[in-house]
Amino acid sequence: MHHVLVVGSINMDQIFRLDHLPRPGETMLAGDVITVPGGKGANQAVAAARMGGRVQMVGRLGADPFGRSLRAALIEADVNVAHVREDETAATGVALILLAEGRDNSIIVASGANMRVASADLDAVDWAAVGVLLVQLEIPFATVGEAMRRARAAGVTVILDPAPSRGCPADLLALADILTPNETEASDLAGLPINDIASAMAAARRLRSSDRQRVIVKLGGQGLVLCDADGCRHLPAIPVPVVDTTAAGDAFCGALAARLAAGAAFDDALRYAIAAGALAVTVLGAQPSLPTLAAVEALLRRAAAG
Ligand code: RIB
Repeated sequence: MHHVLVVGSINMDQIFRLDHLPRPGETMLAGDVITVPGGKGANQAVAAARMGGRVQMVGRLGADPFGRSLRAALIEADVNVAHVREDETAATGVALILLAEGRDNSIIVASGANMRVASADLDAVDWAAVGVLLVQLEIPFATVGEAMRRARAAGVTVILDPAPSRGCPADLLALADILTPNETEASDLAGLPINDIASAMAAARRLRSSDRQRVIVKLGGQGLVLCDADGCRHLPAIPVPVVDTTAAGDAFCGALAARLAAGAAFDDALRYAIAAGALAVTVLGAQPSLPTLAAVEALLRRAAAG
């Protein structure tokens, strides 16, 4: 089986549960802070590993207790961390997650060592072993671009999750075989409002930069739209009880990458990704919510049985 290579961020998430998101100038009291491993890159790596993928990660941690604990969490999840460096000059990334009753969330990331992930960190990668590269935007654009160019030169499938929304250059978007923005990111990148399935399709069409590229706009409880060489279509979500939507998109991307690297057909990989994203919203926190292959297959069976 080919590997999934994730080049991306690793954060310690600090979750505050509130009854509403704070208004400007408001001080709020929350319960105890909940500390769990997160970071879009690490979440996607763990998601792919829980789906049975062989996963390597390139990233950076600070030389601090959060860094040591996050490295241990990746190892525990069976992610190869040989290329995760300890950076002596920056702290481990931290994400502040405000989770409001009613399930809205807001995330603020102090990037720390993530913004020091450099192109040189890719030098030790054995591209011949890699089937799928998975990248996001919580590390420098230059490193994301270099990883994508090296992957393409090696014939590796490239998935870019353009998250968070930070004005990704068009030449990076064009390097992806598969683009997986959520509604906000797709709207920002395409410069079009998204308020229904038709407008999501319009944004996906505008983002799609070549015949070979697939654009998937993730719409949460509304499912997703996919635009590819066969046109655009809407796929519904699997209904589940929602506890916390954090990392649902990461579960989706990790599962998609793991299945593709295992040789699955695209449509089959997509079914698994949809189910993984659904299960992730049923559990609080980022990495604790990422489902196993067995859980995903059980949900797919239940969904098929109606
Ligand atoms: O996608 C969810 C993740 O975004 C969180 O785990 C947080 O760390 C931020 O990177």
